[in-house]
Amino acid sequence: MSQDIDEIQRLFNIELQQIKSLQELKSLEVVYLGRRGKINLLLKKDLSGNQVDRKKLGNEINELKKNISIKLVDYRNKLIKAPDTSPFIDPTLPGISQKMGSLHIVSYAIEQISKIFASLGFIRMSYREIEYEYFSFDSLNMPKNHPGRDDFETFFLDGNTDKKYGKMILSPHTSSCQIREMWRTPPPIKMINIAKCYRPNWDVSHTPMFHQFESLCIDKRINMTNLKGTIEFFVKNFFGKNRQIRLRPHHFQFTEPSFEVDITCDICSGTGFKSTSEKCRVCKSGWLELAGAGMVHPKVLQEGKIDSKIFSGWAFAFGLERIMMMKEGIKLDDMRLLYSGDIKFLEQF
Ligand code: PHE
Repeated sequence: MSQDIDEIQRLFNIELQQIKSLQELKSLEVVYLGRRGKINLLLKKDLSGNQVDRKKLGNEINELKKNISIKLVDYRNKLIKAPDTSPFIDPTLPGISQKMGSLHIVSYAIEQISKIFASLGFIRMSYREIEYEYFSFDSLNMPKNHPGRDDFETFFLDGNTDKKYGKMILSPHTSSCQIREMWRTPPPIKMINIAKCYRPNWDVSHTPMFHQFESLCIDKRINMTNLKGTIEFFVKNFFGKNRQIRLRPHHFQFTEPSFEVDITCDICSGTGFKSTSEKCRVCKSGWLELAGAGMVHPKVLQEGKIDSKIFSGWAFAFGLERIMMMKEGIKLDDMRLLYSGDIKFLEQF
């Protein structure tokens, strides 16, 4: 029995030295002094032998218990007083803030435009950005020798040439959606297509990739008044009531009559001058061209399998980046900044 006592004491001493936390210490205490701990088990053992022996053993066990208790308390104090080696945290220092991302202003404008047209009942479609010549040109009444079909104006792809639809191109405008939409559904048509377009230009008001949004409306008795009213509604909602627009006669192969839509420049407030001597870098005249528009040409309606004696329609397309440049408060004087990937520029919006 005495041997058992010595062994417990020896083991306890070893285990105590390995304790690193108060929690571990508590567990050790339970193992030795707990109700079913090693010392109580010892007491329950049959203490055979004479009275003197039993008394002696009892004393030894009590001594062991006392010894273990004292050592546990000492060790506990030692743990509490031990220097804290965990890294110092200064709660008064400013935190590490997470940078919030946000929509690119072009994406934001797309959302705004979609909402304005949705409020008029236009459905939003997404037509192709890689097209066949037929949809971008031939179906739109543009002859083979039209200057827009030159590779100076349009990106041609080295892809397969289709017998019927011609070469593949990067769509230089969104108007290829017109025939595709007419083929998709008979009138009434009220749709808006927002898509990327590509042309080989690079200056303050042109980037080789840009966006247009094109609207097409075809029904019985659709006329110029509807077209003008729709453009007016959009411009007032998007730019605010102070901006003025003008419609300037123009020529497009696929609309008749045709015109361009201009809006007063926000950078020079429609004056055309940056200062008394310097002309506005962007508009040069006080007006900036925003859109092409017109009544859909009967030949285009026929190509779209729509009877031009029963139905009429209009189409227009706005350059989205131009719209951004003209929006109040943005005062963007170089379109290329939009795609420069410059966080400092983009963060402002
Ligand atoms: N597709 C023409 C352009 O890119 C714009 C336009 C669209 C004109 C619809 C008339 C009707 O310049």
